[in-house]
Amino acid sequence: MTFKSFLVIASLAVSVLIGLVLGRGSGGGAQAATSGPKVVKIGLSLDTLKEARWAKDRDAFLARAKELNAEVIVLSANSDDTRQVADVESLITSKVDVIVIVPHDGKAMAKGVEVAGRAGIPVIAYDRIITDSNLDLYMTFDNEHVGELQAKYILDKLSTTKPIRLVRIHGSKTDNNALLFKSGQDKALKDAIASGAVQVVHEDWADDWKPENAKRVMNAAITKNGHNIDAVLVTNDGTAGGAIQALKEEGMAGKVVVTGQDAELVAVQRIVGGEQSMSIYKPVKALATRAAEVAVALATGKPVVAKAELNNGKREVPMILLDVVTVTKDNVDSTVVKDGFHTRQEIDGKP
Ligand code: GAL
Repeated sequence: MTFKSFLVIASLAVSVLIGLVLGRGSGGGAQAATSGPKVVKIGLSLDTLKEARWAKDRDAFLARAKELNAEVIVLSANSDDTRQVADVESLITSKVDVIVIVPHDGKAMAKGVEVAGRAGIPVIAYDRIITDSNLDLYMTFDNEHVGELQAKYILDKLSTTKPIRLVRIHGSKTDNNALLFKSGQDKALKDAIASGAVQVVHEDWADDWKPENAKRVMNAAITKNGHNIDAVLVTNDGTAGGAIQALKEEGMAGKVVVTGQDAELVAVQRIVGGEQSMSIYKPVKALATRAAEVAVALATGKPVVAKAELNNGKREVPMILLDVVTVTKDNVDSTVVKDGFHTRQEIDGKP
């Protein structure tokens, strides 16, 4: 029985029982039975290590894999799709048992899933989905909820007496998450935009999540609207940094509400300092730890429970979803500090 047919039967059976159970039947277990504990080999293919969060994901994943006696090969593609497909092919050549991918481009990496599939190697999409492919599992945060919380923050923060003049800076179009963040924001803003309580005075995408691209969008917004801007709904901390740079050059930093995501250290420092208003904390340690456990489970024929699913254009992909938390200057200690994501010393810039 191939791994894929086992998954389909297993997931069909369980979906009747509310929730999906996944298992792997292609021999991993058997090998484990005959030759003692098999050292599981995991391939971890990253888009980039440009944003601070990905190094934290990688380190937490490696730490848990080590505890589980698994070997991990980590490759980072520096946001190059051709290179990332080549990375997956080299992981297959290295005879890994399972591959975990953070795709730069969710469409481009369908090829990676297909070549792994032909080699009988299951693929887990980490944080960002891979579309149009027989993906085995998707593990991520509630990305729509991220967008809702960002937009709701602005609606709660700013008065309703006069229209809120809003600039929107979306993420990278190659990243399906950017579409999910936007759709969560759209949902939360719908009525306010319809009633005129919110006026979107400028809107654009920051290619590759690059801060310099976000700065360019913010400059264009200021050129068009002058200082008549009340808030910037910007999707992650890296791009928020770019937008705030533009605001600073105009003496507007700290006077305009600015959102973010990832609770990067520099962003939390900006929040404490007042230049940025909020961020979204995503407990990446929890996601990465869980992903290492699930990867080992798939490789050794142990069942994996995924209570949700997402259609990736080819199939209903079983999905494991973790929730997120809004961080403001009022709850830094009870969120990112309490969780050990940053220390108070680090935030205060003390050695
Ligand atoms: C998204 C991710 C965010 C942010 C962004 C840029 O896919 O969910 O947390 O980091 O990529 O890397």
